[in-house]
Amino acid sequence: MLIKVPKASDCHESDVTPESLYLSRRSVLGAAVAGLAVSSLPRWASADDVARYADVEPGKAPSWFAEKLPSTKWGAVNVKDEAITPFKDATHYNNFYEFGTDKGDPAANAGALKTEPWSVVVDGEVGKPGRYALEDFMKPYQLEERIYRLRCVEAWSMVIPWIGFPVSALLKEVEPTSKAKFIRFETLQDPKSMPGQRSGFALIDWPYVEGLRLDEAMNPLAILAVGMYGRELPNQNGAPLRLVVPWKYGFKSIKSIVRISLVSEQPKTTWQSIASDEYGFYANVNPTVDHPRWTQARERRLPSGLFKPNVRDTQMFNGYSDEVASLYTGLDLRKNY
Ligand code: MTE
Repeated sequence: MLIKVPKASDCHESDVTPESLYLSRRSVLGAAVAGLAVSSLPRWASADDVARYADVEPGKAPSWFAEKLPSTKWGAVNVKDEAITPFKDATHYNNFYEFGTDKGDPAANAGALKTEPWSVVVDGEVGKPGRYALEDFMKPYQLEERIYRLRCVEAWSMVIPWIGFPVSALLKEVEPTSKAKFIRFETLQDPKSMPGQRSGFALIDWPYVEGLRLDEAMNPLAILAVGMYGRELPNQNGAPLRLVVPWKYGFKSIKSIVRISLVSEQPKTTWQSIASDEYGFYANVNPTVDHPRWTQARERRLPSGLFKPNVRDTQMFNGYSDEVASLYTGLDLRKNY
């Protein structure tokens, strides 16, 4: 297991963990640190190190998930600064337009989504294309926990403990050809279980599509998540497989993925197709470039209410500049929003 050294931009483990647990974990890990690789990633806890989430409803994880998550323990979170968002908020304040446009619609409607069996197609500019049952697709990957900020373009944010694996590990596995310059993701299209896809009023030309430049996808922060809060993903959060790119606005983090394609041209993404003057391909979190209809300088950290709005300043690249700013050297971020 890699031990990562935190940077100033990190969501510190001590900020989201009871101190006693934090200290005891540090002393156990401390002895092992010297001989292990050190990288510039934010701090994360390993999957068997999960002991913190007070209000989590247990899920019905498939056996392959349980096998990759050997010893999950549960406990309370005592937070100082950046709290992990309560499970209830993370699972009942969602954007998943396939299930409706209100924040509560995904939790209310996504129960109808059948996530088992699930298959993922890998195609395009790859040496090893294929259609995989999810349990086979997952075989090569070790699961990790990553505690990331999630900043929506609508100016609300959360802190979520994801469980997943780096997109770079998938790329290594499928062997992109020299023509591959971008990675394109596609969500399930199933109007029977997805009422938003049946609606005559939907602006979206289904399926929902997202994409990254290949070097962005290779960045160690980009992960494919299969779980959160120590359990598998709830349907409303994008079960059984979603993208998480924490330095970008949340709409890049596409849910319920069924197709991953390596392509030579920049893919046409969903929100860009709907309103390219409001939502760009890059969608990097940037407090200095406002959305045409609202400021991006600040955000509401959930839980947030009328009497306690919990507003804070938005950070460049959502606080992950040290890890990702070099991807954009020489790029005009005002034009490439
Ligand atoms: N993926 C699909 N397929 N459909 C969607 O409507 N919404 C996006 C993103 N992924 C969306 C999606 C938006 S706008 C955000 S902010 C995040 O999911 C929200 O993720 P969460 O509901 O897990 O917080």
